[in-house]
Amino acid sequence: MKKMQIDIIAVVPELLDSPFGHSIVKRAKEKGKVDINIVSLREYGIGAYKKIDDESYGGGAGMVLMCEPLAKCIEDLKSKTCYDEIIYLSPDGNKYEQKEANRLSMASALLLICGHYKGIDERIREKYISCEISIGDYVLTGGELASIVMVDSIVRLLPGVLNDETSALTDTFQDGLVAPPVYTRPASFEGMEVPEVLRSGNVKKINEWQEEMSLKRTKEKRPDLLK
Ligand code: ADE
Repeated sequence: MKKMQIDIIAVVPELLDSPFGHSIVKRAKEKGKVDINIVSLREYGIGAYKKIDDESYGGGAGMVLMCEPLAKCIEDLKSKTCYDEIIYLSPDGNKYEQKEANRLSMASALLLICGHYKGIDERIREKYISCEISIGDYVLTGGELASIVMVDSIVRLLPGVLNDETSALTDTFQDGLVAPPVYTRPASFEGMEVPEVLRSGNVKKINEWQEEMSLKRTKEKRPDLLK
């Protein structure tokens, strides 16, 4: 499979250094499964002060990211890469869920645009954005933290990134249910025992137990998933 390209336009690119420099995302980059390119919007800012935002027409508190720096930045990136989706991260976007991570993990190239302050000029949304995503009903300072969540959830699905032990197929949500409880050594901890069936070595029985527990847990914790 071809290497996936993820470009991210950020107002505070420093926020993205650490999350993509460790663990599974780092390993995915090293294995050549993904290239993550972080672009500072400030580089496309206007004038000596590299201005990227201005007051909102019609008044109201908060600054708006201006058209020109964003358009220049997006055009520059588009001249080098053909994106499957140009995604704007915003609290008013479509709620991000596992099925969207699955879909996006099949893409060859994604461009993520992180908003800040009051957001980006509406004309940029109209002209360039193909998909708007929110990671939940709360407001973050900017889209950078949301982009970390998205990239992590996508990269771990790329073929060859996770090994068998960490396979994404058994994740909560992948079959519309939450995952069953898990245990490790010791078999007995402060009088609490690991369920006997998990130590039986009977794969069929173990699978049945895990399916049953998945369903039970989903009913208890996330009944909405069963609707
Ligand atoms: N930017 C600010 N809040 C956000 C959210 N909840 N999801 C995505 N991007 C955001």
